[in-house]
Amino acid sequence: MKAAVIGGTGEMGFGLAARLAYAGVEVVIGSRRTEKAVEAAEKIKNIIKNGNVSGKTNQESVKGCDFVFFSVPYEGMTEIAQSVAASIERDVVVVSCIVPFVETKSSAAEELASLLQAGENIVSALHTISASLLSDLHQPINSDTFLFGDNKAAKKQLAKLLTKIEGLRPVDGGPLKNSRYGESFTRFLVGVNKRYGVSSAGLRVTGLEDSAVYRRWED
Ligand SMILES: NC(=O)c1ccc[n+]([C@@H]2O[C@H](COP(=O)([O-])OP(=O)(O)OC[C@H]3O[C@@H](n4cnc5c(N)ncnc54)[C@H](OP(=O)(O)O)[C@@H]3O)[C@@H](O)[C@H]2O)c1
Repeated sequence: MKAAVIGGTGEMGFGLAARLAYAGVEVVIGSRRTEKAVEAAEKIKNIIKNGNVSGKTNQESVKGCDFVFFSVPYEGMTEIAQSVAASIERDVVVVSCIVPFVETKSSAAEELASLLQAGENIVSALHTISASLLSDLHQPINSDTFLFGDNKAAKKQLAKLLTKIEGLRPVDGGPLKNSRYGESFTRFLVGVNKRYGVSSAGLRVTGLEDSAVYRRWED
């Protein structure tokens, strides 16, 4: 299993890349600059000695990957998407972690799907999982994340990948158009973090047994 993390040099992407590498996934960090990507990859390899991590340009990073995570600010999304669209292979699961902090007509994930012409292979997830929690490999995540997408098979593939991260529970959030709720709830959660002086307030859906959550992702 191989995953590219575009924006893996930043806060969220770095934590996600580290978690995936820690779980035994081959990770390629993507950046607009090769040196920056290589530096981030080396930093992870210093923490996870047997981690299979490399750093490449965004365009190179996506080649041969099963998953491509987009972890860039909304403001940079269009430029980055246009620069990698031609390099993303068919059947790759594209994951949007992007949260816009400005008013938008639709969700960032729907915009990304249109920019990439990724068809139904796009899933929106991880919005409410904080970068600081992801980066602290000693802490289990102990949080749910909604997976929004129109293709159940793509959501299932992503759910299986995310289940490798300790304590992260992937909950089916319905179609991609629901991503707007996840993205806007995250903006609200950032306010909760500020009010309580913490950095990792998360989301846990009550009344949902683990058995039901994981059964949904079984083959
Ligand atoms: N931080 C969190 O806790 C968190 C949690 C959940 C979701 N998110 C979402 O995840 C995404 C990334 O968040 P972040 O905090 O990791 O962001 P960030 O650190 O500001 O940026 C991530 C990476 O994106 C690239 N980038 C930055 N500005 C850009 C621009 N204007 N145009 C193109 N590329 C740009 C940079 O990579 P290169 O210079 O290497 O190309 C940067 O290292 C955001 O959409 C955010 O809303 C964040």
